[in-house]
Amino acid sequence: MKTANELFEPINIGKLTLKNRFMRSATHEWLASDEGFVTDRMIDFYRKLAQGDIGLIVPGYADVDPSGKSSVRQGAIYDDRFIPGYQKLVNAVHQYDSKIALQIVHGGRQVKLRLIGTHTPLAPSAVKDSSSGITPKEMSEEEIQYIKQKFVEAIVRAKEAGFDACQLHIAHGFLLSEFISPYTNRRQDRWGGSTENRSRFILEIIREARKLVGEEFPIFAKLNSTDGVRDGLTPEESARVARLLASAGVSLIEVSGGIAEAGDVAARSNILEPEQEAYFASAGRLIRTTVKQAVGEQTQVALVGGLRSLSVMQRIIREGVADIISMCRPFIREPDLVLKFKRGEKERADCISCNGCYSPKGVRCAVISK
Ligand SMILES: Cc1cc2nc3c(=O)[nH]c(=O)nc-3n(C[C@H](O)[C@H](O)[C@H](O)COP(=O)(O)O)c2cc1C
Repeated sequence: MKTANELFEPINIGKLTLKNRFMRSATHEWLASDEGFVTDRMIDFYRKLAQGDIGLIVPGYADVDPSGKSSVRQGAIYDDRFIPGYQKLVNAVHQYDSKIALQIVHGGRQVKLRLIGTHTPLAPSAVKDSSSGITPKEMSEEEIQYIKQKFVEAIVRAKEAGFDACQLHIAHGFLLSEFISPYTNRRQDRWGGSTENRSRFILEIIREARKLVGEEFPIFAKLNSTDGVRDGLTPEESARVARLLASAGVSLIEVSGGIAEAGDVAARSNILEPEQEAYFASAGRLIRTTVKQAVGEQTQVALVGGLRSLSVMQRIIREGVADIISMCRPFIREPDLVLKFKRGEKERADCISCNGCYSPKGVRCAVISK
């Protein structure tokens, strides 16, 4: 039986040690420059989170190619010129003994047309996104190879910038999650069809990156456990993908869900009672069980989505649903939430999951900044 204070004890992810089990899930903060460079405001923002004693911090998604931009003031990592800014960000976080991983993404069919210039939205298949009206172009073999190489280069740059790990964004309907989903990937070639074929794009990124960053540099994944739409990815299939990722050496799998078309599946609103919390818990349990059976403690599992109360978090760890507790919105309101928990000052995060934090002027809690 694990003890209650296990949340505040170190945990190993392969050879990487976190000082506690709290993770700040990737959160786009709208604080990069228009071109995608790290700004001083962004560094200050992450310094504050690191001062809050969070074990692992993942900044907002960074774009691996100009054709994959999904938001204004999104970070970019598609060229070496972005490395020095990220180095400064990493150094600021490391001063407080927090670890930091870079999340990398290509927007796929969830790009913003006005932000990708002359590029065409790309996806595994030409399936219209009803939330944006975009019908992407089915990627050619050449485009698949090109974008794959951009992901590989981004992993190399994350290592060069000093990040402790690089996280592949395989969730929320962006390109990598479009590949694993039967809803958005209708291909009949070696990139589609079976779970193995739909995972191939990601597995090849990992394999090719390994040759360049070595066996030691940790590669993580944020993985959809469901798309939240009919004919989409299911937890059972996601668990099979998770097994493939873990066998390929992915050392942390963060379980999430939802795509843009599905509405507020990823960041569910109005989480006010403990019963509403941890809304991907059953998928987390399935994925963790599958992964541990395949590779044992080599791969750890994090759970994100509506975690708010210490008692729920403790239960998640004790019952083997996940190894790490990941949060996004609670840290927008309370960057020092972990410290408050640790000091015994509170049992529950103040966040009311109103989603007022989405703000192109810079992410902020709508309740306290009124
Ligand atoms: C303002 C905002 C920005 C987000 N940006 C990202 C992102 O860049 N990458 C990502 O994987 N998820 C992103 N998410 C989703 C969160 O990481 C998380 O999966 C979701 O909010 C559920 O966790 P929570 O209930 O702790 O907020 C974002 C969510 C919010 C509210």
